[in-house]
Amino acid sequence: MLSKEQNDLVTQTGPDTPGGKLFRQYWQPIALVADIEDDQPIALKVMDEELVLFRDQEGKLGLLGLHCPHRGGDLSYGRIEDGGLRCVYHGWVFGVNGKCLEQPAEPPGHTFCDRIKQKSYPLKVLGGMIFTYMGTGEPPALPEWECLIAPESHRFISRSRERCNWLQGFEGDIDPYHLSFLHLALNRAKTGVGTSAIGPFHEFFTKGVPRMEVERTDFGVRIYAMRDLGDQSYLRLSNYVLPNIAAVAGGAIDGDGYMMLWHVPIDDVSHVKYQLAFKRSQPVDIEKEKADAVMHWKLGSNTLPERNATNRWMQDRKSMKEEWFAGLGSSFALHDNWATETMGPIYDRSQEHLGHGDKGIVGARRALLQAIEDQAAGGEIPFHLGERQAMKDKINEIVVTSLLAPDKDKYREVFQDLLAASNRKAAE
Ligand code: FES
Ligand SMILES: [Fe+2]
Repeated sequence: MLSKEQNDLVTQTGPDTPGGKLFRQYWQPIALVADIEDDQPIALKVMDEELVLFRDQEGKLGLLGLHCPHRGGDLSYGRIEDGGLRCVYHGWVFGVNGKCLEQPAEPPGHTFCDRIKQKSYPLKVLGGMIFTYMGTGEPPALPEWECLIAPESHRFISRSRERCNWLQGFEGDIDPYHLSFLHLALNRAKTGVGTSAIGPFHEFFTKGVPRMEVERTDFGVRIYAMRDLGDQSYLRLSNYVLPNIAAVAGGAIDGDGYMMLWHVPIDDVSHVKYQLAFKRSQPVDIEKEKADAVMHWKLGSNTLPERNATNRWMQDRKSMKEEWFAGLGSSFALHDNWATETMGPIYDRSQEHLGHGDKGIVGARRALLQAIEDQAAGGEIPFHLGERQAMKDKINEIVVTSLLAPDKDKYREVFQDLLAASNRKAAE
């Protein structure tokens, strides 16, 4: 449970909020490279700021304030020409760095242009995604997460727009026990679970006694979720990477790769979820992944998934008897969409009642509140890479798994073995 004030701190990410100031100290994904292949500027909103993303004639990417500093024309309707983006209202031109390059209505020799600077943010491309840094000061290094540097054939990105606060979406990612209900297939033969979605350990989600442990790390929080199955244990290792990334097991990739999910606020009542799944040892079946990604959202569009709030997610009572526990179809992303949107636009966490199974969520919120406080006090914030090599090396400590551990009490040894393997691989 959080107080009203704490709930505001962890849910608000506008430019003048403490949470927004923390989020802006980290690179955030705002688009996919594929989004701008047709050279169409795109209007988008990130953390309550209206922006336009475009590619100039030389192929350079720019992210500027959406409204022209002349008299507010919408630059996403602009023309790509003459070294930048030209506003179609009175023809001012802006380069990718926000510099004003032309003001056709001004007399020759004028210097007005030199005094105009449109808001702009730096961009970096990695792993098929476009990241921006909207914070103050020199940007830190963009972390080279394993999923971002995996070969293109070994990763799959999907994206959805969620009509609720970012934290609701994120807290679902690091909540391992909802797998036993929300995503439960009643009939594996009929639903095909085991070959897709959450992988080969689905049958353990309903067995044994749940147990959870949480530890603080340099990057955020590590979460051990277990089910004691007698003399062995089903173990899931998930991670909260501050401020808004979950690294969790998922897809038919257990023990090989994993998923990283970024929940990037559009504003306080909606966000974009970027989900990047990768395999280490082999290519991902991209066609199959595409077919499963029913939530895939085109940047800037207003379209809803077929199942949505207006049709009560087409919940099917017949399916609830024979196929799926929740009767919401087979897409896990859509199940999560139902769970998080129906909580309301910004869930009031002073009303909740948390138990043992919510320990990961409690740990993550503590880490986030602490980071917001540290940022506001001008202190050091977690995993802000800067030029610090020691921190960059911590990327290896993001260890994700879903496996059967031979001894139910040996889960920390299992983690240590996986960490050693991760460090060895990084040193190769
Ligand atoms: S509003 Fe953009 S040039 Fe006038
Ligand atoms: Fe889920």
